[in-house]
Amino acid sequence: MTQNIKIREIQEMQAIVKEVISLRNVSVHYGDLPVLENVSLSIYMHDFLGIIGPNGGGKTTLLKVILGLVKPDSGKVSVFGGDPLQNRRYIGYVPQHRLFDPNFPISVRDVVLTGRARHALFRRYTNHDKKTARSALEMVGMLPLEDRQIGRLSGGQQQRVFIARALAAEPGVLLLDEPAAGIDTCVQAEFYELLGRLKQKMAIVMVSHDITAVSVYVSKIACLNQKLFYHDSKELLAEDLEAAYQCPVDVIAHGIPHRVLREH
Ligand SMILES: Nc1ncnc2c1ncn2[C@@H]1O[C@H](COP(=O)(O)OP(=O)(O)O)[C@@H](O)[C@H]1O
Ligand SMILES: [Mg+2]
Repeated sequence: MTQNIKIREIQEMQAIVKEVISLRNVSVHYGDLPVLENVSLSIYMHDFLGIIGPNGGGKTTLLKVILGLVKPDSGKVSVFGGDPLQNRRYIGYVPQHRLFDPNFPISVRDVVLTGRARHALFRRYTNHDKKTARSALEMVGMLPLEDRQIGRLSGGQQQRVFIARALAAEPGVLLLDEPAAGIDTCVQAEFYELLGRLKQKMAIVMVSHDITAVSVYVSKIACLNQKLFYHDSKELLAEDLEAAYQCPVDVIAHGIPHRVLREH
């Protein structure tokens, strides 16, 4: 599939289905453990949704539901108006735990090229695959280091490479699971700015347990702890946060008694 055809395909789908991702009353249990309860959510093109919440609150599970990797016990999920698994190729995913041996001799270029695997199934990588991987590296500013072994990069640089890998699939939505964990604050700011630029081309859903870090950059924010507290805006009510965290959330409620996360 050439790049133009895929972009056109995504644009056509958007014209038909307004919501890029839609969850309606989704519940998930792992055995007896309820993890998501009646979660409803709509994500539109150019949204940059931050999902915060305590550890174990179900954030990773929610992303897996969108990816079709976890099937809900009840409720409905659709991705670009269709089945999540079927439309999986429109989703770029940067998982929370990227386990790899830092000494594994694979170059930045080859890591990003694996992002084309879904397109290159049963065939060799084409020049188009290589070109797409290259422009993904360019987008994240890592092209100059394409020959470098992945393990020889800083945490922040590796993170950019993993985003490039997800972008190489030419997604309409980018899902990021705690992408800034372990990256120092200065580099984080640059990283969020990169996401702000990418938002112009797609929808972004970013999961984090760090409230203050995401609050400045996202355009919408939700809080998840089994239930999703969400008002389709950048504002969360202090009582929602406290309900989700089950304790007063001083850090952002300070001085702003009701509304938090105002414009930067
Ligand atoms: N595959 C699994 N089987 C059983 N329990 C799981 C599984 N994955 C996650 N859990 C549990 O589900 C809850 C939510 O996990 P998760 O979605 O990873 O939360 P978060 O990403 O917000 O930390 C946790 O209590 C976790 O231990
Ligand atoms: Mg998680």
